[in-house]
Amino acid sequence: MANNKALGTGGRKSDKDLKIRVKTAKGRTVASTKWLQRQLNDPYVARARAEGYRSRAAFKIKEIDEKHKFFRKGMRVVDLGAAPGGWSQVAAAAVGSTVEKPLVVGIDYLDMDPIPGVILLKKDFTEEDAPAMLIEAMGGQGADVVMSDMAWPTTGHRATDHLRIVHLIEIAADFAIQVLRPGGSFVAKVFQGGTEHELLHMLKRHFNTTFHVKPPSSRKDSAEAYLVAKGFKGRTEGEDGQADE
Ligand SMILES: C[S@@+](CC[C@H](N)C(=O)[O-])C[C@H]1O[C@@H](n2cnc3c(N)ncnc32)[C@H](O)[C@@H]1O
Repeated sequence: MANNKALGTGGRKSDKDLKIRVKTAKGRTVASTKWLQRQLNDPYVARARAEGYRSRAAFKIKEIDEKHKFFRKGMRVVDLGAAPGGWSQVAAAAVGSTVEKPLVVGIDYLDMDPIPGVILLKKDFTEEDAPAMLIEAMGGQGADVVMSDMAWPTTGHRATDHLRIVHLIEIAADFAIQVLRPGGSFVAKVFQGGTEHELLHMLKRHFNTTFHVKPPSSRKDSAEAYLVAKGFKGRTEGEDGQADE
């Protein structure tokens, strides 16, 4: 296992520190050569493989939970943008989800291999009927944690990318407010520049505490960060969710 010092760098090493160098090959672009080189030298990728996680992203939710402690045994969790499944794996283990009594529901428009104890929906979360499908998969019960690692592939057009990401976070937050039980938590990938003022204001009204976190496993050169909102205050009049509490 890699040492903590190496992990504390967010998996980034300068080129001269790289152990494995990847040569450019016919048909491989410079970008994909760099990506491959980074994967091969990333201690979190190696750790994910060794510990049976589907993605290095698994360590992000582990680290965020170690700091903010929102998972407990028996809780119900919704994972938005779940593929390939690292966060769902971590959540299922943390809440004690089993095949007999699944407590975690994940959604992604990509195909995913089954995960024991996790109900997976192949669906675009932005489609109108997605929230109702998730609630149905939870047996009509409320959730204790709604987490979203959703991100769209970037277009390269800054303003468009920003708007698309803000939209994803907003609909994830609306969904969380609709399905969370009082005391519940919402965790979402946001991008630096922080969370939109209006959204943050809305979350502060609905949750006791909100934080921005950059877990050590999140690459230093990535603009991603995570928003954690804890202690859902419950729905107020006019915000009736469809889920039972
Ligand atoms: C960074 S990956 C998630 C990694 C995951 N947390 C893990 O640990 O394996 C982001 C995922 O969000 C999904 N996604 C993005 N937009 C989505 C949408 N509108 N509906 C469903 N999934 C979406 C992508 O398909 C992608 O699999």
